[in-house]
Amino acid sequence: MSINVTIVAGARPNFIKIAPLTKAINVYKSQGAAIEYRLIHTGQHYDDVMSQSFFRDLGIPEPDANLQAGSGTQAEQTASIMVSFEKELLENRPHLVLVVGDVNSTLACSIVAKKLNIDVAHVEAGIRSGDRTMPEEINRLVTDSIADYYFTTTPLAGENLVNEGVDPQKIFWVGNTMIDTLIAQRSRFQEPSIFNAYHLSAGKYLLLTLHRPSNVDDPKNLEHIISLLHQGAKETPIVFPVHPRTQKMLASINLPSTIHTCGPLGYLEFLYLIDKSMGVVTDSGGIQEETTYLHKPCITLRTTTERPETVEVGTNVLIGDAFDEIPQLIAKLTKGDWKTGTIPDLWDGKTSERIVEKVIQLYK
Ligand code: UD1
Ligand code: UDP
Repeated sequence: MSINVTIVAGARPNFIKIAPLTKAINVYKSQGAAIEYRLIHTGQHYDDVMSQSFFRDLGIPEPDANLQAGSGTQAEQTASIMVSFEKELLENRPHLVLVVGDVNSTLACSIVAKKLNIDVAHVEAGIRSGDRTMPEEINRLVTDSIADYYFTTTPLAGENLVNEGVDPQKIFWVGNTMIDTLIAQRSRFQEPSIFNAYHLSAGKYLLLTLHRPSNVDDPKNLEHIISLLHQGAKETPIVFPVHPRTQKMLASINLPSTIHTCGPLGYLEFLYLIDKSMGVVTDSGGIQEETTYLHKPCITLRTTTERPETVEVGTNVLIGDAFDEIPQLIAKLTKGDWKTGTIPDLWDGKTSERIVEKVIQLYK
């Protein structure tokens, strides 16, 4: 009997997390393992720069189906994914649905699979910000309350799950598939054209990303954050690849001339910019982990993080409630006064292999 797995991906960070899983399954298959997968793109992200570019850069196979859910309110998007994913599972019933991360696609597909009595495995399970105003925290809590198997990035994520009543035998601490991708692609990082266009030099600019609703959905708030960043960075250039959610709000804001914007970048170009920067300012989840792995200073503009290890052992500093201290913190970073951090255990490039091996063992 062949094990049939349906892998779900819908948004930018999902693509980066599933790329090494598809590769690992193919490696096990080539060694004779009886495992097959269908890759389902929910269509949550759809612009070339938010979706297809990752398939090209990371060598992810064409999805077997694209559910074309598109954008909408939280409920509209989640519901649209659910309706189409139910049809997909009724036509192609797998043994296991594998979801990653904490986006609406993760939540929607987990609920649909469980209602059809299909097993669900959650990759990156158990991380918690404790902030239920974040849509992602709701997605994490609901997904983990119904999943069958939990693949975790850190021991703390496993402890969170146990505290919520999950059977410890279903939790597997395997490491971080996003870091698998980083390690696999590191030799391919690529200078983006804006590097020369903005006269950037290695180690002499800051990289910025912002897309959390709490930071960007109110243009006044976004303008205030940008002004605080500029106060701290002074003449140091800030490169700002802008997420589509943020782009809409930026239209009404006057940016200082040292802040250089561009559209969302491809993975290889964006990682090049992290690697050559003096540090990163972000509200992204994944970028907190990538900067920790690359030993790059990171300031996270959020009140909480679901990735506390990046603060405790990594290079991340959480601004918390002290947004007014952004200028001082940036000034400290640009002076080079920062911790170098260490890399969390099992963030070693072999996480996807461990996941696939465990899945094969579970369904043998
Ligand atoms: C989603 C995830 C978030 C994740 C982020 C990664 C949820 C609740 N949020 O947030 O956890 O950190 O993706 O980037 O799942 N848009 C485009 N083109 C696209 C995609 C989106 O223009 O290809 C615009 C649309 O106007 C859309 C807005 O961006 O309304 C937000 O997209 P959406 O997927 O709803 O949420 P994100 O903010 O991207
Ligand atoms: N990323 C990218 N191009 C960009 C911005 C981010 O390739 O212009 C990558 C980044 O390196 C990380 C992932 O996208 O691997 C994180 O996605 P995002 O910040 O959108 O989502 P989150 O991790 O916050 O859910």
